Amino acid sequence: MNTFWEERFRDEGRIWGDSPSRTATYAIELFKKAGVREVLVPGSGYGRNAEAFARAGFSVTGIEISTTAVNFARQNAQGIRYHHGSVSDMPFDDSVYDAICCFNVLHLFRKKERMEFLQKCRDQLKDGGVMFFAVFPEKEPGYGRGRMVEEHTFGSKPGREVHYYTTEDLVSGFQALEVLETGLMEDPEEHGAEGRHTHLLRYMYARK
Ligand SMILES: C[S@@+](CC[C@H](N)C(=O)[O-])C[C@H]1O[C@@H](n2cnc3c(N)ncnc32)[C@H](O)[C@@H]1O
Repeated sequence: MNTFWEERFRDEGRIWGDSPSRTATYAIELFKKAGVREVLVPGSGYGRNAEAFARAGFSVTGIEISTTAVNFARQNAQGIRYHHGSVSDMPFDDSVYDAICCFNVLHLFRKKERMEFLQKCRDQLKDGGVMFFAVFPEKEPGYGRGRMVEEHTFGSKPGREVHYYTTEDLVSGFQALEVLETGLMEDPEEHGAEGRHTHLLRYMYARK
């Protein structure tokens, strides 16, 4: 099993601090306008975004593969339900959700797994439900670093590959849904010893 994330959470704790990502804060506003009540957060890490959704009044379920991260998350659960396991084994419950928010997880997989993951998300979404995904764009400085393992996909750290999305690529992954909005957003992040830096992220907001 890939231990990249497990080792990071074990070594660095709540790596990106307690505040939610800017894209998740934006998703909260979109979800409020859409009348969302129940949110699924795949790849929820130690819960910083899931916690922000819960504080905003949503009923929240997270899915996370790292034992250390899910233990951190459960220490501060605030009513959030966490499933411990891989998104490739979804569904973990019989629920269908009003919304899915997924931050910096989809780009960690190769093409076949990305397609399967998105299908599993669509299956757990109500008709009329919405999905908000944030991913690395091809404009991120890391693009091209390391070994190319698939088109626009590079392995620059042992155990972590990243697929860098163009607009067309991201839209094509969501073609079974109605694209409501897509774009780029700067997302500043605390990074422990590395200090604060700003990611450029591509996001997708789409409706089933
Ligand atoms: C870049 S981190 C983002 C974490 C969280 N979304 C956040 O912003 O705080 C990627 C997360 O995806 C999780 N992850 C990676 N592969 C996964 C998988 N197959 N199933 C579930 N979670 C996974 C990692 O353990 C890690 O928590």
